Amino acid sequence: MAAPLLEVKHLKKYFNTPKGMLHAVDDVSFSIEKGRTMGVVGESGCGKSTLGRTIIHLQDSTDGQIFFEGKDITRVKKKELHRINEEMQIVFQDPFSSLNPRMTVEEVIAEPLEISHRFKRGEIQDETERIMELVGIDERLRHSYPHELDGGRRQRVGIGRALALNPKFIVCDEPVSALDVSIQAQVLNLLQDLQEKSGITYMFVTHDLSVVKHISNNICVMYLGQLVETASSGELFAHPMHPYTKALLSAIPSIDIHHPKKRIVLQGEIVSPIEPKPGCRFAARCPHATEACHEPQELKEISAGHFVSCCRVE
Ligand SMILES: Nc1ncnc2c1ncn2[C@@H]1O[C@H](COP(=O)(O)OP(=O)(O)OP(=O)(O)O)[C@@H](O)[C@H]1O
Ligand SMILES: [Mg+2]
Repeated sequence: MAAPLLEVKHLKKYFNTPKGMLHAVDDVSFSIEKGRTMGVVGESGCGKSTLGRTIIHLQDSTDGQIFFEGKDITRVKKKELHRINEEMQIVFQDPFSSLNPRMTVEEVIAEPLEISHRFKRGEIQDETERIMELVGIDERLRHSYPHELDGGRRQRVGIGRALALNPKFIVCDEPVSALDVSIQAQVLNLLQDLQEKSGITYMFVTHDLSVVKHISNNICVMYLGQLVETASSGELFAHPMHPYTKALLSAIPSIDIHHPKKRIVLQGEIVSPIEPKPGCRFAARCPHATEACHEPQELKEISAGHFVSCCRVE
């Protein structure tokens, strides 16, 4: 087994809100091997983006540790943070709002190169051309502005910008959710090609389960700030254990007309992420919940590499 590029231990990110402390990410631990893709799934508001943003230091963590190439980067000095910012990047869902509308394609991609002070003037031009070719943007679009491009090309520019300084790790936060289905496949293929070429490691956040199955080696399922299940992609889809994962997977339409799947419709209330009580946060919606579910739960290894946080699963 390869050494993990990223290891997250008991990571917490709380937000102070007028109603109390909001537990957006609450004691999450997992690791990603170099050159692999970890999919992160769960419903809106479960903390997927907060997890990604906290890992790459777009915001400070509340508690826990983040190890990058074996080194704890949770509390680092400014100089070190500068290096981390170059090695860990993010691609956002909506390239339209993440790209500066007043900058051309060429300027958007060249900007991180200029800021890094790693390149001379002439080199920046060459590097920009290399990156545009790498992400499949035609040379004649170099002077275009983001609004002049279609969604797919815009996202290619976003990916190009993230790739500019050869990062080792990229958080892809719903990178294809805003794109037409036909374009989605092209952008996913681009991300996979780049991984094959350069061994880049991804954390791929999405609520689209068919996308995550296609692209991930391993998957983390989150529910209200917590990791409820993690396994290899094949294992998770073949043997989902947590009642929440089962409900999520049941929502994917079956292609087998002889064995249509029964969709599990969840009843009950979603608990608030603000100062939640100890115990399983899914219990209020879980068809199998008992008294024991109101005790704190722990992530247990059910089979090799398959972890579940549910006292009802044996
Ligand atoms: N800056 C902030 N201040 C206060 N609360 C926040 C902040 N950012 C996120 N939250 C809250 O943290 C929780 C997790 O939000 P997050 O955006 O990480 O969810 P998500 O899983 O990415 O959802 P989506 O699928 O809709 O993108 C939510 O309850 C959200 O309201
Ligand atoms: Mg999000």
